[in-house]
Amino acid sequence: MAGDVEGPAMRRHVEVIAHRGASATCPENTWAAFRRAAEVGADRIELDAQLSRDGAVVVFHDSELDRTTDGSGPVTGTDLVDLSELDAGSWFSSELADERIPLLDEVLAWSVGRIPLNVEVKIEGGGEPATSLARAVIELIRRHGAARTTVVSSFDPVAVAEAARLCPECEVALLWDGRGDGDPLERVRSTGATALHLALRGLTGELAGRARDQGVPLRVYTVNTEEEMRRVLDLGVAGVFTDRPAEALAWTRPGQVPSWGHFCNPHAPVGGSPRGHDLYSRSRSRSRSRSRKISEVFWGGGSGEELFFRKVPSPRTLAGRPVTRNAGI
Ligand code: G3P
Ligand code: CA
Repeated sequence: MAGDVEGPAMRRHVEVIAHRGASATCPENTWAAFRRAAEVGADRIELDAQLSRDGAVVVFHDSELDRTTDGSGPVTGTDLVDLSELDAGSWFSSELADERIPLLDEVLAWSVGRIPLNVEVKIEGGGEPATSLARAVIELIRRHGAARTTVVSSFDPVAVAEAARLCPECEVALLWDGRGDGDPLERVRSTGATALHLALRGLTGELAGRARDQGVPLRVYTVNTEEEMRRVLDLGVAGVFTDRPAEALAWTRPGQVPSWGHFCNPHAPVGGSPRGHDLYSRSRSRSRSRSRKISEVFWGGGSGEELFFRKVPSPRTLAGRPVTRNAGI
């Protein structure tokens, strides 16, 4: 039964990591996605870090700007001043045209004391670029006093080794896409990493068992359905990356998470608490006092065994509607 979340595996604690923020319902790697991940109570936010041409660490996934902005060409070939003007939200929703490519510096400042990050050093090919980006990321993490709470990860073994060397108190994870030859746990050891982040396709009971025996935390990407969640939890993974943190929390911790709310609100308050409840209250009072245009409203219900949502066409103006159960969380 789809809503049956009472099995022992589903009750086991697993770290729920919002992959590129709450990226199923907000534009990936933007403030909207990060705020939403914090609002729903995700345990951690995963994001991608790259260098602009002039050396700023920006939060962006693809190597090219074209898919998720109104710009084009390589991120690493564009100066920060130009990157900062790009619209990083319209590709997802016309209501989110104000979204910009965040700076890692700013996201770290916002996240400390609120929600920990997993910064992926987004580079492949090794050499000096991998080393430079890893160094820049570690420097920012240290500047914000976040070394003990942040996970740094990369597919690139050179970047992993450099991060592990520069930041022994950081948790450094090797990313493994499950396609290549070799033993990912051996690569974890040889690079000095302390954790393994594995593509779902590469997950086997044998590998999960060896990771557990070796004391290597194993986190799996990307887990977006309840069926996938059951499978990975049965194998005892430490964490899951998900584009749908609200649902993942409902699947894994029934009764502990709010299940009403719209999924992406570009006007959500910037401040707030580490957990969503204060934001919810604040957002509720704001919504009573004035109209708030939002991009998508999902009316939903359920608090454990069943969870359902129904999308309402966007945009909607909330004034005059029974929004008190829908604003915020
Ligand atoms: O860190 C897990 C996952 O984000 C790695 O793949 O392509 O989403 O960055 P990708
Ligand atoms: Ca990533």
